[in-house]
Amino acid sequence: MEITRIRAGDLADPEVDELLTEIVEFDRAINRALGFGSDFDPLPGSVRGKLVRSDAFTSHEIWLGRIEGRLVAKSGAYLSLSDNTDVADVYTGVLPEARRHGLGTQLLTVMETQLREDGRTRMNAWCEMPALDFSADPRRPRIAAAAGTGSLPADHGEVAFALHSGYRLQQIERCSAARIQGAAIEGEAGVPVPEMSSATGDETTSEAPDDTAAGDDYTIRTWAGPTPVEHVEAIALLRQKMSTDVPGAAELYDESKWDGDRVRALEADREFAGGRTQTALALLDGEGVGFTEVVSYAGRPNVAYQGATLVRSEHRGHGLGARLKIANHAALRRDSPIERVYTWNAAENSWMLAINDRAGFAAVGWVGLWKKILD
Ligand SMILES: CC(C)(COP(=O)(O)OP(=O)(O)OC[C@H]1O[C@@H](n2cnc3c(N)ncnc32)[C@H](O)[C@@H]1OP(=O)(O)O)[C@@H](O)C(=O)NCCC(=O)NCCS
Repeated sequence: MEITRIRAGDLADPEVDELLTEIVEFDRAINRALGFGSDFDPLPGSVRGKLVRSDAFTSHEIWLGRIEGRLVAKSGAYLSLSDNTDVADVYTGVLPEARRHGLGTQLLTVMETQLREDGRTRMNAWCEMPALDFSADPRRPRIAAAAGTGSLPADHGEVAFALHSGYRLQQIERCSAARIQGAAIEGEAGVPVPEMSSATGDETTSEAPDDTAAGDDYTIRTWAGPTPVEHVEAIALLRQKMSTDVPGAAELYDESKWDGDRVRALEADREFAGGRTQTALALLDGEGVGFTEVVSYAGRPNVAYQGATLVRSEHRGHGLGARLKIANHAALRRDSPIERVYTWNAAENSWMLAINDRAGFAAVGWVGLWKKILD
């Protein structure tokens, strides 16, 4: 197998155009083989962004494996440049018809070796499986996550590959979906996407630029698109807290550093990929104390993906997590064609899962987060 390494920004535009279709088709084949449907297919704008965009804060690299010119294997690494500079978030895929010939191992080994030469010694990887696959046959042997909650079937191909490659299962995340408007649909992997319950579904109790309905002094402000200038510092601070305050984060990353420039850089990345971010921010006396965001893409206008959600620890216990989501979903129903939202939560994040269960989310898949320290 011939292996080529490409760093974001390495290629000229015509080369990017040529590669884009090939990579999108490859990523789509990997997604469909896992058992996920079109909501998780690659978005060309995001793929292009990973090939061309690098800034002071983040970059991407890919390794392409070809046999007789055909792309059969691909690895990718997401790299933080301003903190966590010894970490790489890595993923390897091999076309279904080329598996079990050692290609995944070969490509992963080359990527790990080259990342280690660049000083990256902490690898974080992930694998995904549809909910039906995850719970099929309760008698299967399972691997427990080090975080203490949840396990994955040990004989699942991707789980076996991660174990074989020296990765340790750190944490499990649940991926769930809820329908916020529109006709009933069949969701990912045959799981029906439930309608969001009235706990979050009733606009008369939801959108709240000045939401004091709960009888306290918190207010919720929502917006779509770039963060209003007066809230950029608050969002930067909340994102920084997010990097340490969510369950299990410390096992995978050091605190990430955020400022206004980094907030704007993330917004520019999303905009490049055709992304639209809908945000809700909780304020107390003008200070940002919690936020939630969902991102949708021009190429798939009916679907949104949950980004970060955080309520600062000293403001928990006021129902702010649910109120933020209610306000954000109400804004989506009012101002966007979004019909369904996907969200990811750590299996041990029981309070967040409870908020989502109340809101009518149902599991569509599970994600294993793996780590490996290179010698
Ligand atoms: C995971 C993946 C990359 C493996 O690629 P591959 O080229 O088949 O992997 P290899 O041939 O190098 O396998 C190495 C070892 O992993 C284990 N393994 C890999 N696939 C397996 C499977 N389906 N069942 C059981 N064990 C498996 C075996 O121990 C194998 O060694 P062996 O073939 O000598 O028994 C491929 O299945 C894939 O693309 N999956 C979807 C993408 C994905 O989820 N990636 C993240 C993985 S953490």
